[in-house]
Amino acid sequence: MKRRDFFYCVASLLGLAFAGQVKSREASLGSAASISNRLYGAAVRGDLLQQDGAYRRCVLANCSSITPELALKWAALQPQPDQFDFSEMDYLMRFAKANGMAVYGHTLLWHESIPAWALEPMATKKDWGIIQRYMETVLGRLAGSIRYWDVVNEPIDTVDGVDGLRNSPFLAAFGPDYIPNALRTARMLAPAARLMINEFGVEYDLAVEDDRRSRLLKLLETLRKGGVPIDGLGLQAHLELAKGQVSQQKLKPFLDAVADLGLEIYVTELDVREGNYAQAPDRRDRDVADAVSRYLDIVMPYSNLRGITTWGICDRYSWLQITPEDLAKYGDIWKDGSGPGLNRGLPFDASMQPKPFSNALLQAFSDSRVKYGRD
Ligand code: XIL
Repeated sequence: MKRRDFFYCVASLLGLAFAGQVKSREASLGSAASISNRLYGAAVRGDLLQQDGAYRRCVLANCSSITPELALKWAALQPQPDQFDFSEMDYLMRFAKANGMAVYGHTLLWHESIPAWALEPMATKKDWGIIQRYMETVLGRLAGSIRYWDVVNEPIDTVDGVDGLRNSPFLAAFGPDYIPNALRTARMLAPAARLMINEFGVEYDLAVEDDRRSRLLKLLETLRKGGVPIDGLGLQAHLELAKGQVSQQKLKPFLDAVADLGLEIYVTELDVREGNYAQAPDRRDRDVADAVSRYLDIVMPYSNLRGITTWGICDRYSWLQITPEDLAKYGDIWKDGSGPGLNRGLPFDASMQPKPFSNALLQAFSDSRVKYGRD
């Protein structure tokens, strides 16, 4: 037994202990979301759930859903052609089950998570069998317990792509049909699942986002008209304060068109990259929360919105880290050695205390009950 397997095996024996740790969910984001029949979730990591009790308690107290941040990516699941590793995923499934949480399936095909060994045979032999076997194994094991699946992640690239589709190893090997083929394969293997395409960068009034919105819409329309199984669109929603304000004028017509196609939407990766680290922390938190509120005001009225997941739950473990290049822009204002701390773009801070972002979510979930009622 590998060390990692042993680690998750011991963790599973402690599984029952999780149940006892569920705190009252009265003021939790998950229970607020459930008022309008929606889920609140966070992207999580199995190792952190094991190692950091405060993090685990924060997830337990707030999430009615979890998304594996890393564990359900192809390179993690199939490190070698003949070797699958479900250890972290199995752990997360047990954790979710013990605590009555849903699991969001992220992701089947993503150009950034292809195992190295698969690149060459895909490129030269154009062998769909590789994808078929991977999907059979993953969906064979998990389709019964995971409802939502990001079947294709980030397929659009209107800058360097081919006819607006990302020039990924999938496109290079199989042409644009890889998208309908992946969706059909997923439907066969997971007939009850909701099959999603997940994409980023559709929130702002920027030329590149105009292009992305229209290419994405064209893709969704083509799939629907062609009878390809597709149930919804995942909106990553990585907000960035440097891009200005989220544009209701641009986002709303786009979401209307998605709804007109009969598709669900799911906010899959909400977080905020800050624009000015030099301000006081409370001002920074307010700016982040304002952006979140503005975004939620636009998406919450859609009755086809099924849930909101933040990409992480607390700043301590966010994938958004302040880089030396970011700091260089501020000259030597932190020459006393203090520094701006972490990017503050998630609902809870580094000590798992709720920030205005968390209140913005709570508020938006409870307002949506009053304004829009149950779906
Ligand atoms: C990111 C993880 O957060 C990082 O830890 C990892 O190194 C790379 O992937 N869009 C996605 C997610 O769809 O899967 C990415 O997650 C973030 C961007």
